Amino acid sequence: MNIVPSIMATKKSGPKTLRSTVTKIYLLTASALEESNITHSEHIPEWIIGRIGEEKEVSILGSEGPIIFKVIEEVKAEEQHYNLIADSSYSLAREALGSLVGQITKERSKKVEVNFYGLDQEMITGAIVGLELALYRFKEELSFGAISFFNDGKKVTKSIVDSALSIAQSINTARHLVNLPANILNPVTYANAVKKYFAKSTTMKVTVYDEKKLAKENCGLILSVGQASATPPRIVHLKYRPTGAKGKPTAIVGKGITFDCGGLNVKSGAGMGVMKKDMGGSATVMGFATWLEKSGVKKKVDLYLALAENSINELASRPGDIYTSRNGLKVEIGNTDAEGRLALADAMDIAITQKEKPEVLIDFATLTGAAKVSMGDFVTSMFANDDELADKLLKASQKNGDLSWRMPLYRPYYKGFKSNFADMNNMSKVKGGSIGAALFLEKFIGDTKWAHFDIFGWTSGFRPSLAQEGGSGQGVETLIGYFQN
Ligand code: BES
Ligand code: ZN
Ligand code: ZN
Repeated sequence: MNIVPSIMATKKSGPKTLRSTVTKIYLLTASALEESNITHSEHIPEWIIGRIGEEKEVSILGSEGPIIFKVIEEVKAEEQHYNLIADSSYSLAREALGSLVGQITKERSKKVEVNFYGLDQEMITGAIVGLELALYRFKEELSFGAISFFNDGKKVTKSIVDSALSIAQSINTARHLVNLPANILNPVTYANAVKKYFAKSTTMKVTVYDEKKLAKENCGLILSVGQASATPPRIVHLKYRPTGAKGKPTAIVGKGITFDCGGLNVKSGAGMGVMKKDMGGSATVMGFATWLEKSGVKKKVDLYLALAENSINELASRPGDIYTSRNGLKVEIGNTDAEGRLALADAMDIAITQKEKPEVLIDFATLTGAAKVSMGDFVTSMFANDDELADKLLKASQKNGDLSWRMPLYRPYYKGFKSNFADMNNMSKVKGGSIGAALFLEKFIGDTKWAHFDIFGWTSGFRPSLAQEGGSGQGVETLIGYFQN
């Protein structure tokens, strides 16, 4: 089956039969609504304003077609949590327009007109991102007629629309990769698809480490994870070098377990259910890579996807086995289901031993069930060994509505990894699963400034712009925000 060429793309088809109506959306801030210049605006008929009253959202049938009027909630100045876990104006606008997609597509109008009042550029970006995110479907994206955006009556510039679309599309790429089933997306097809995607790029160079190269590089840990799979592990290195970029590169690493059955410590049926999403960290990195390449940001970035399938056959690794990592540590397998840290360890070591050594390393991984239990769908557990880096990332995550919360690298817990037969075990005997996993990874980052995101990567669909159950693209907006500065 020739799936590789289309693996990265969502299926799009033009709108079907459209009605010759215009759907008009009015999206405004509460303060814009109160201002007299808006209420008496020539663009919003006064009779519509009159209908609003106390409602936040009103739909009316006008002479040309449906009119949807929506007031965006105001950002509340949060005094708690250092204001890091609050809604931002960007995320409120994103969810506000995202929530209207069902109505817009249902109308099947030939023209859709979105009128913003009182929104700044960040909010306009957020709104357009929300619209594009909410249109995503795995089987076939939703669509509608020609759309145009106006801000206070003036056309929104193409560059703002395009930059918002490029953000949304990179998130949708991450979501799509997560949604692809493991019989289609495996380490080999995944690596090939990435190579093909960037084949013509002048700034992104893709190198694939296949199983032979991984053996030559002494990547004993990632090889052990994939040794029972029909499709062997890959580490994909994407090297981004735009002209004019100076300074040390940033490295970004993603866990890409294309399916995690748990290995011989096999997961229960319920636990295994959505484990196609165990490559979510790599999807975040890949989604971000598509944005990075389009953005032309003048920074050096090295991205790594640690790809393997955690499977079972007579070759599978066993509890008690000992494997040697690329950096020379002997690791005893306490639990074959703690495979993500193994795959990441070798990829991180490759990242920090490049000729151009990175200044900062950031990794994304669906690493522990414990992170899911403590933070749920939409808040990521973030660990960092550098306060300045942590601060910058948390601020980017807050501003771009992709929330995370810092967790402690509490080093006394590391003693739980003690092994009588090797340098360390891959499973800790100490509670605090996500902290332990982070401490395990810390053994592979040397003296590099490092942040680790233990993501969930999946949504059950209660956020309006992520209307669908499936991959959520968690982390992509944080990375974009971090690099936009
Ligand atoms: N991929 C899982 C973690 C996971 C589970 C993420 C559910 C999101 C939802 C990971 O490989 C795993 O199984 N971790 C184990 C580690 C344990 C055996 C030390 C866990 O968290 O239970
Ligand atoms: Zn696992
Ligand atoms: Zn896993």
